[in-house]
Amino acid sequence: MLIGCPKEIKPQEFRVGMTPMAALEAIAHGHEVIIESGAGDGSGFDNAQYEAVGARIVDTAEDVFAQAEMIVKVKEPQAVERARLREGQILFTYLHLAPDPEQTKDLLASGATCIAYETVTDRSGGLPLLAPMSEVAGRLAPQVGAWTLQKANGGRGTLMGGVPGVGPADVVVIGGGVVGTHAARIAAGMGASVTVLDRSLPRLRYLDDAFGSVFKTRFASAGNTAELVMQADMVIGAVLIPGAAAPKLVKRADLAHMKPGAAIVDVAIDQGGCFETSRATTHQDPIYEVDGIMHYCVANMPGAVARTSTLALGNATLPFLLSLADKGWKKACADDVHLKNGLNAHAGMLTYAAVGEALGMESVDPDTLLA
Ligand SMILES: NC(=O)c1ccc[n+]([C@@H]2O[C@H](COP(=O)([O-])OP(=O)(O)OC[C@H]3O[C@@H](n4cnc5c(N)ncnc54)[C@H](O)[C@@H]3O)[C@@H](O)[C@H]2O)c1
Repeated sequence: MLIGCPKEIKPQEFRVGMTPMAALEAIAHGHEVIIESGAGDGSGFDNAQYEAVGARIVDTAEDVFAQAEMIVKVKEPQAVERARLREGQILFTYLHLAPDPEQTKDLLASGATCIAYETVTDRSGGLPLLAPMSEVAGRLAPQVGAWTLQKANGGRGTLMGGVPGVGPADVVVIGGGVVGTHAARIAAGMGASVTVLDRSLPRLRYLDDAFGSVFKTRFASAGNTAELVMQADMVIGAVLIPGAAAPKLVKRADLAHMKPGAAIVDVAIDQGGCFETSRATTHQDPIYEVDGIMHYCVANMPGAVARTSTLALGNATLPFLLSLADKGWKKACADDVHLKNGLNAHAGMLTYAAVGEALGMESVDPDTLLA
């Protein structure tokens, strides 16, 4: 199969859909790979690294879209990219169609076979192509929170690990899923005193078994949450209710009871945030203050560490990419229910029921296409 990877054109996106390592493996499987010139620059992969593994560099995105049988990207295709897709072509990338009728309409009009990273599943019921970005955002949260706590940034001036004779920062993580677990581990590794709140008892049991005394766990009742938030130097928001906006667990009135200069890192901002005072910010201007509390609410945190994010995403997408290239989309989806769950559109038909429901559109059962 001829696999093509264009440069990402969404503002502030530095990741790339294929690393040179992914290109090397695809080529070893007998496929051809074309990369738009400069596509890997933002992640630290230059053209020469792709050429060294046997990929071909092409000058423009038009060349990639015109030639490739499968397009591998990171972000949802922008309007100009959607216009270049065609029937029979496979698109493998993040799509997030449910809130995006314009994109959905264009993808259906293109006739392309569109497989969305975010709906591919795994055996344990997880989302294996979303998890790497949650891992990145979780591990980044204490790092940016520590920076937010610095005096020059408006913070309280508390050092995460303290020093001999001076206690560490108190960090509270609300939500102990993928983001929360990674955030808690890193915060504890920086020497902070960390407590994770979650409403799921099985999850709290797992965390206790797996991490022992590295951090404490508490049930996320309203009372426990309010008490711990009041005592915290840093609060990391990491809750998720699948398919719903994040619940507002900390209200504006609660800020008055927090320590002045405390830091809020609302990782759940991409679902609206779990603090009433959260609003999405950018890497250019990441923090703002409300009632003396510093807020960091960047909606695409992994973009700050594009190289790590590209490598982590590439590790997760590679087996699916190879399967699609080796077998074609139909056999690959027929053989693997988890990849089939990624199928969102094919030949002008919507193939993902939840997207159809969200947009009030007809969808077809993908099994009818695979029969
Ligand atoms: N800002 C970013 O760049 C970025 C990057 C990656 C992920 N995220 C977001 O981070 C959030 C968390 O993602 P995740 O992968 O960790 O999800 P997850 O499903 O792994 O974990 C969510 C956890 O929240 C818990 N929870 C739900 N309601 C709760 C409540 N009321 N109180 C306490 N805990 C509650 C759940 O039990 C679960 O353990 C999501 O909104 C995700 O989209 C943001």
